Formats: sequence, structure tokens, C-alpha cells
Amino acid sequence: MINMKKIHHIGFLAKNLEKTAKDFESMGYERNGGGFDPIQKAEILFMNMDGVNVELVVPSEDSEVYPLLKKYRNAPYHICYEVENLEQAIEEFVKQGYALFRPAVKAVAISETARVAFLMGRNVGMVELVEL
Ligand code: NI
Repeated sequence: MINMKKIHHIGFLAKNLEKTAKDFESMGYERNGGGFDPIQKAEILFMNMDGVNVELVVPSEDSEVYPLLKKYRNAPYHICYEVENLEQAIEEFVKQGYALFRPAVKAVAISETARVAFLMGRNVGMVELVEL
């Protein structure tokens, strides 16, 4: 079993940040920080309800994630797990056959020190790992 600390957030692709944020707010979510992530080239807004974070991701046209928006439209598209050691966790996932979609990069929308990586699993789709 791969050792994960906890679920950090659920990534949700959105075409329009304000419209999506407002609809989440009307369900009781509260805005919980974010900003433009220059590495992922996406506008990010975290929304929290009951301790669960939903990460609204609005990719720029030149973002690697932009094609996904066309495919899925507004929809959840990854689950992010907090791990103790990012490199070690990536290694374990790769060993289990996951493809490394985006190697470790800084995630300024989460915090100054956070680093994330994305993997693709045949059966569970996109997995994001974060080391805080
Ligand atoms: Ni994410």
C-alpha cells in the first residue's frame, strides 16, 4: 500500500472562475485562498466546506491542462494527496505502473514551500501528490 497522509483537495476544472465560485458558495463553500499559478498556468481558487477543499482550476489557453477543459468541461479531474516525502511517493507510484504526468514543481497557490507532482493511473485517473 502506498502511504498517504490524507486527502489535501479535489481538483475541479472550471471554465469561468467567478461563476463556478458563486455556485459553490451558494452550496455553502467558502473561499480559501489561491491565485495565479505561473507553473501550471492556471488561475486557482480553493473553496472549503466541512474541512474539504475543492480546488477550482481555470487553465490558460497555453496550459497543459487546457485540453482537459475541452474534454471534461466543468468537472472534478484529480484528487490530491498529502505525502511526507514527494520523491519517495512518486517512486512508489511509478513502480506500481503510474505514469508521471508532471514531475515535482513548486505550487505557489498552495504555499511558498509546497511542491506537487501529477501522475496518471490506469484505473484511478489523475493523482496529484503534495509535500507541504
Ligand atoms: Ni490540485
